[in-house]
Amino acid sequence: MVTEKSAIFIIFGGSGDLAHRKLYPSLFRLYKSGILKDHFAVIGTARRPWSDDYFRETVITSLKDYFDDSEDIMKGFAKHFFYQSHDVNDSEHYIALKNLAAKLDDQFEAGHNRVYYMAIAPRFFGTVAEHINSEGLKTEDGYNRLVIEKPFGRDLDSACELNGNISKAFPEDDIYRIDHYLGKEMIQDIPHIRANNPKLEAAMNNKYVSNIQITLAESLGVEDRGGYYETAGVLRDMVQNHIMQIIGAIASDDPEATDAKIIHKNKTDLFSSLKELTPEGVDDDFVRGQYDTDQLGEEKAYRQEDNVAEDSNIETFVAGNIQFDTERWSGVPFYVRSGKRMPEKSSRIDIVFNDKVDEVGIKPNTVITLLIERVNGNSILINGINYKESGQDFISFPEEAEFDKAREAYESLIIDILSGNRVHFTLWDELRSTWKYIDTIRNRWDEQTPDFPNYLSGSMGPDAAEILLERNGNSWVWDD
Ligand SMILES: NC(=O)c1ccc[n+]([C@@H]2O[C@H](COP(=O)([O-])OP(=O)(O)OC[C@H]3O[C@@H](n4cnc5c(N)ncnc54)[C@H](OP(=O)(O)O)[C@@H]3O)[C@@H](O)[C@H]2O)c1
Repeated sequence: MVTEKSAIFIIFGGSGDLAHRKLYPSLFRLYKSGILKDHFAVIGTARRPWSDDYFRETVITSLKDYFDDSEDIMKGFAKHFFYQSHDVNDSEHYIALKNLAAKLDDQFEAGHNRVYYMAIAPRFFGTVAEHINSEGLKTEDGYNRLVIEKPFGRDLDSACELNGNISKAFPEDDIYRIDHYLGKEMIQDIPHIRANNPKLEAAMNNKYVSNIQITLAESLGVEDRGGYYETAGVLRDMVQNHIMQIIGAIASDDPEATDAKIIHKNKTDLFSSLKELTPEGVDDDFVRGQYDTDQLGEEKAYRQEDNVAEDSNIETFVAGNIQFDTERWSGVPFYVRSGKRMPEKSSRIDIVFNDKVDEVGIKPNTVITLLIERVNGNSILINGINYKESGQDFISFPEEAEFDKAREAYESLIIDILSGNRVHFTLWDELRSTWKYIDTIRNRWDEQTPDFPNYLSGSMGPDAAEILLERNGNSWVWDD
């Protein structure tokens, strides 16, 4: 049964790309499913002086890219949308937002609940959070939840500073830090798959796992995001957050836990057990790359992209061997890899078992592959274990199985926000550990000049990424 939720959403950056491509379509899906119905309103805010009507038109135009519902349904949805011109630094504007939110709360009977969504540049996160607090936007008798997009800082120091700023304004329990990979059904299913497949769970440790491989590959280059990429690089953009969180889903203890506090504690414990990296260890265990043109010389090299320096040393590819000092995982390499301009888009987890795993009833050297995302929506492929299909009991697949998954990550995360469920959001303690680890790699790389570009567009990355595994007698399961 669908339970209707009530809230006033205030979307900072309401005219931006994320809002139009992800948030409004997800809110529309929730509207169509009845989770959002009569008791909600969305205030979009940004500097440009739009009218409510114009804002609604832009929302409907975005929806048309994803849905073929009737104009009437879209207009009914858009009636819940309001626009307030606003500059994040202007205190007066927050008063106007507060008054509009209060008015809409009365009109839609939204229960004094507020979702403050930061779909705005990260440098504004702290300012906005402080003003929400100081200008009295928070309600007394509803909830007040702050949603923060990535990136959460660009290193440990800046993440600490940001966290300090938002923590002054919101208690940790009201902060929802988005890592949209945690909204993907595949990632959310991993603990269930483990918990409900006793054979698999018995094998998920250093006695039986040879290595675990996580690949987040893109076929595209940086496209029009060269300016952003120059300040980030794939290490910060993909490893610190998405790849680490995927590892958290696969490798945390106690997959049967359902309590958010226990789940977070398990993940925090795992990340605080990241095996300490020395600068020399970075040279051994991490490889970076930057794409060149392709074999025919037709594609732009990274250094030829718009807003990218001609001598840029920013990495567009990373591969690494991450290890944990825990009883369960000590000695097991978690090979991670992410890159632009790889042969195809692929997000996958490969769990490679060793030749002793038949002791727990799994064929020796079995590889279990979870496909997190495919071009045509989400899908999963599992070899030889029980798997739960949405809404069904566990069923056994002796060979391979593939499913399409319907729910968009943002849709699922917004439901969680409205329900007060923080399981699929990242906590500060997790971020502190992962940033500390990433900083060691970044600092080492910043001391050295790489020999870039070092891989062709359309290839699997630099040769060193293959050698990284070969050194230990392993190889990538996904190879072109
Ligand atoms: N786009 C994505 O797919 C994506 C994915 C993951 C995370 N994110 C994160 O989501 C956030 C938004 O990204 P985006 O791509 O949507 O950015 P964007 O398209 O550049 O939108 C930025 C928004 O902020 C508003 N804005 C800028 N300066 C402002 C100010 N001083 N006061 C008030 N509003 C201001 C802009 O409107 P005005 O110019 O009219 O003020 C616009 O609505 C960023 O933190 C980004 O890292 C985005």
